[in-house]
Amino acid sequence: MNIYGQNSNKMKIVSVVGARPNFMKVAPFIRAINRHNGNTTDKISHLLVHTGQHYDDYMSKKIFYELEIPPADINLGVGSGTHAEQVGNSMIALEKVFEKEKPDWVVVYGDVNATMAASITAKKLHIKVCHVEAGLRSSDWSMPEEVNRIVTDRLSDLLLTPDKISVENLKREGVAESAIRFVGNIMIDSLESNRLKAEKLNLRQIVLSNLISTHNEVVFKGAEFVVMTLHRPSNVDDELVLPLLVNFVISEVANVMPVIWSVHPRTEKQLKQFNLWDKLINTPNIFMVNPLGYHAMLKLNMHAKIMLTDSGGLQEECTVLGTPCLTMRWNTERPITLREYGGTCVLVGNNVERIRQEFFSTLNNSRKPKHPELWDGLTAERCLMEILNFNMND
Ligand code: UD1
Repeated sequence: MNIYGQNSNKMKIVSVVGARPNFMKVAPFIRAINRHNGNTTDKISHLLVHTGQHYDDYMSKKIFYELEIPPADINLGVGSGTHAEQVGNSMIALEKVFEKEKPDWVVVYGDVNATMAASITAKKLHIKVCHVEAGLRSSDWSMPEEVNRIVTDRLSDLLLTPDKISVENLKREGVAESAIRFVGNIMIDSLESNRLKAEKLNLRQIVLSNLISTHNEVVFKGAEFVVMTLHRPSNVDDELVLPLLVNFVISEVANVMPVIWSVHPRTEKQLKQFNLWDKLINTPNIFMVNPLGYHAMLKLNMHAKIMLTDSGGLQEECTVLGTPCLTMRWNTERPITLREYGGTCVLVGNNVERIRQEFFSTLNNSRKPKHPELWDGLTAERCLMEILNFNMND
């Protein structure tokens, strides 16, 4: 008998998450397991492990609650630190968990530090690894996420991809075709199952209840607006880059329409360090809000005129919702979200001239929602089916 009181020959899966973008991916997977368990006597036991990389209420607890993710069975409390500290401390703690629990599969999601830490640890213990969101490549080795993706994919036994471009990337790297399955985008499962809840929220209320400073309270009218997020080190950690971006937003974007900026903790710290914070807080048409919940961000995305972001997940959500998106990066691991592939995003990097040009030429673009193949809200079911089938053929 295992800790669940079940026979130990039942399949046991451990999912490992660590940072905000993982939570939208694990939620539908857990639902798929619960559905499976409700329909069969051959139940799967599932354990959710949170490394604790994202730990505060805004970045973690709130999203768990909204997406109805059960509290993690185990929280490793790794917290902030350098990459080596986050990965190393996660591995040390995960090794103990995997040795005790002896799962059949460790399932990892996306490209954060927890993803790579769990895949290395599991592989060294001869536990099968399944990577959900395999095969994305930016070809930019300066991004920690690219290192995490490549190491994780190299070690994974089952690679579940969101699109066919990712399948080709993996084949080109020599991954055996038998290990690759195109299942679609699991993030979109969360989007589709939360659309109605998000739609019911009130825009003005979202802004007012999340405002970091109250000076703008009476001015936000909830008409046309821009939504902005920024957190990549290449944009926010460079003293030559961040002030130029901020000045552009203050002096040009905010002159055209209100800007709602959901501020990541890293960015808030950097804005304060570069003395940009007070200026932003005191600009009447800029609304600096705490990291938003999932539903609030979805609602803003549904109604924004333009999204300005360097987030990978938001690029995907913009594509499905049809929101024109200026991607503040020079490359993307998600080319399927770009206009040339039918998506709504355009790469503008962090060059103000380029951003200005695209911003003004995009202002009058209308919404064009696009669902890439298998971005249909049913990806989690396919992920689970692939794991079950893999085991049967094993
Ligand atoms: C991480 C992921 C990135 C993802 C992003 C989304 C990696 C390598 N990066 O980057 O892929 O797009 O999350 O949010 O895993 N902090 C808080 N509260 C928290 C969490 C972090 O204040 O709950 C602070 C930390 O102290 C740190 C900064 O935010 O100073 C950055 O956090 P960190 O987890 O190191 O990386 P992210 O930039 O969030």
